[in-house]
Order: sequence, then structure tokens, then C-alpha cells
Amino acid sequence: MTTSLPRFTRIAGTGSFLPPRRLSNEALVRELATHGVETSDEWIVARTGIRARHFADDGVASSDLALAAARQALDSAACTAQDIDLIVVATSTPDMVFPSTASIVQNKLGIHGCAAFDVQAVCSGFIYALTVADSMIRTGAARKALVIGAEVFSRILDFNDRRTCVLFGDGAGAVVLEASDTPGILATELHADGRYLGILCVPGTVAGGKVLGDPLLKMDGPAVFKLAVGVLEDVARSVLAKASRSESDVDWLIPHQANLRIMQSTARKLKMATDKLVVTVDEHANTSAASIPLALDVAVRSGRIARGDTLLLEGVGGGFTWGAVLLDY
Ligand code: UT7
Repeated sequence: MTTSLPRFTRIAGTGSFLPPRRLSNEALVRELATHGVETSDEWIVARTGIRARHFADDGVASSDLALAAARQALDSAACTAQDIDLIVVATSTPDMVFPSTASIVQNKLGIHGCAAFDVQAVCSGFIYALTVADSMIRTGAARKALVIGAEVFSRILDFNDRRTCVLFGDGAGAVVLEASDTPGILATELHADGRYLGILCVPGTVAGGKVLGDPLLKMDGPAVFKLAVGVLEDVARSVLAKASRSESDVDWLIPHQANLRIMQSTARKLKMATDKLVVTVDEHANTSAASIPLALDVAVRSGRIARGDTLLLEGVGGGFTWGAVLLDY
């Protein structure tokens, strides 16, 4: 008997988790002022749209946030961890240098034997992870995958650098992807340009039992901003063309949640109404690889995204990396 390969992969369920400690801009501004770092709620809101972020407590790792999001996604897909044969975790803040956070999540889920690995593409990580899992399902290497974005960016922030420490938060989002004969993921596209690796990086490393170099996040915000608005428009048009769809077919645009101004500019360039934009950056800040699956889950759970809707997911971040996934939910 021959088994034919699935034509598509579809999202069977979504989940997310935010650590309970929420810090409003006002609370963060007060905390930063205690060590002489000056910023304001007005500046943060006007430049980014961020009003609050969640920070994980000491001892809470990316795998803990990932596990909670994964459990929710499994419930929403009406399946159990035992049904999963692939785990891909997108993270730039892994629990350890190795093994992968995906292996740790697998162990915490109490399942053993299935493939598990991390993808490191910074804020584009979830788009990369989704694309890899989609390819593995369509080639028959897996049938049901957990794809997770999980981050504890608070651990790599320099709280003396007001240009970056107000921008990021912690969290996790997850989807269960499964083989399907109906759409599904329609088109994907990934890019990277290593010439720009210095504009957003954590340059340190571990060697000889010590941290070598600076282990905290560095960003040239304006340079990232300029690149982001260009590539997000281009890659959106590219996945739409691949799927023979147009901007007007998209029900929801879910970009990486870094800056409201970048998201609104992308929507404008694509001639999409801003009410088609899913925005969580106000409450979550930038959670890097977790931001897209977090936003997706929030919009699904609030009832805004319905089965059959066409979604355009877009990521951009350190590397420099960018990419998009177009799908029928
Ligand atoms: O997740 C990966 C993708 N990341 C992104 O997409 C981030 C992209 N970049 C951005 O979102 C924006 O560039 C930022 C939000 C990071 C910065 O906004 P900006 O409008 O580009 O501001 P800027 O860096 O040009 O700084 C403008 C001014 C500067 O003062 P001077 O030199 O004009 O006197 C900064 O020192 O704002 C000052 N500034 C602040 N002031 C109060 C920078 N950070 C702060 C702060 N509070 N937190």
C-alpha cells in the first residue's frame, strides 16, 4: 500500500503564555529612575506603541513558558502530547547552550523519541520554525508538529541602555501543525543578510568557563527600523504572488510585534486597513520569536480570527533575517 504525501499543513490549534509579572511603562520608568536611567511613558508610547511588558521571575526559563503555551495549543487542537512527532522551538534565549530548548520541552511534556530541535533566527524565528515544520510535514517526515516561539529577553537586556531595555518582554506562543489535504499554509519565504549582523546582536559567547564579550542586547534602532519597513513590504508581496493571492484577500496581518509604527507602515504600504492588523505590542512589548504566535493566539481566542480566514504572518529581526507565511486558518 502506498501512502500519498499531504498537500498541505494546517494549524490545528494555538496557545500562548505570558509570565504573570506585568510591568507598565510607568512602573518600568520608576524602576529605571532608581539607577539614573531617564525615560518616560510618553516617549515609549509615541515611538513604539508599547504600554506594558511581562517579565519572567528568576529561575523561570524559556522552556517553562514554552511548555505552558504548548499545553494550551495541544488542548485547542484536541490532541495529546503523545500525538506529536516533531517539536521545533524558535528562541534566542535558550535555557542552556545545549541541549536544545525543544529537547527540554519534550522531556517536560513527558514524551520521548520524536524529533526536537531549536531554530535561531531571532525575531524571525517563528516564521523560520513554521516554514521548516511545514516542509517536514509535506515531505512526510512528520505528521503533527508543535511549533513554539519562546523567549526570556529580560535576561539579555541592558537596563542601563534606555534605547533597548524599554522595548522587550518575555512570553511564549505555540501552534500545533498537522498534515492536511485542505489548506493550510499556502506560501512561505525566508531571507537573511549577514552583512547587517551588527545592527542587532548579543555579541558575547561562552568559552573557557567564562562569558567572553558582551552578553547583553545591542541594537541600532533606526537602522533596524529602516530595513524592516522595506523588507516587510517586499516579502509580503512575494508570498502573496507565490500563492496567486492579493492584498485584498488577506483578512488579518500579523507582523512581528516590535513597533506599532513599523506595523502601521507595512499595512499602509500594502493598502490594508489598519483594523486588519493584529496588535499586541502595546501589552506584550517585543517578545522576539514569541511575538507572532502570541499575537495569533490572542486574536484567535478573542474570536477575531475565524476558521477559513486568510492570515499573513511576517517576521523581521537580528541576522538580519526576515520572512513571511501566508495561510488559510
Ligand atoms: O525585534 C527586532 C526588530 N526590531 C525593531 O523593529 C526595532 C526597530 N527600531 C525601532 O523601533 C525604533 O528605532 C526605536 C523605537 C528603537 C527608537 O525610535 P526612534 O524614533 O528611531 O528613536 P532614535 O533611536 O532615533 O532616538 C531618538 C531620541 C534620541 O535622542 P536625541 O539623540 O535625538 O537627543 C535618543 O537618545 O530619543 C532618545 N531615546 C529615548 N528617550 C527617552 C532613545 N530611547 C529613549 C527612551 N526614552 N527610552
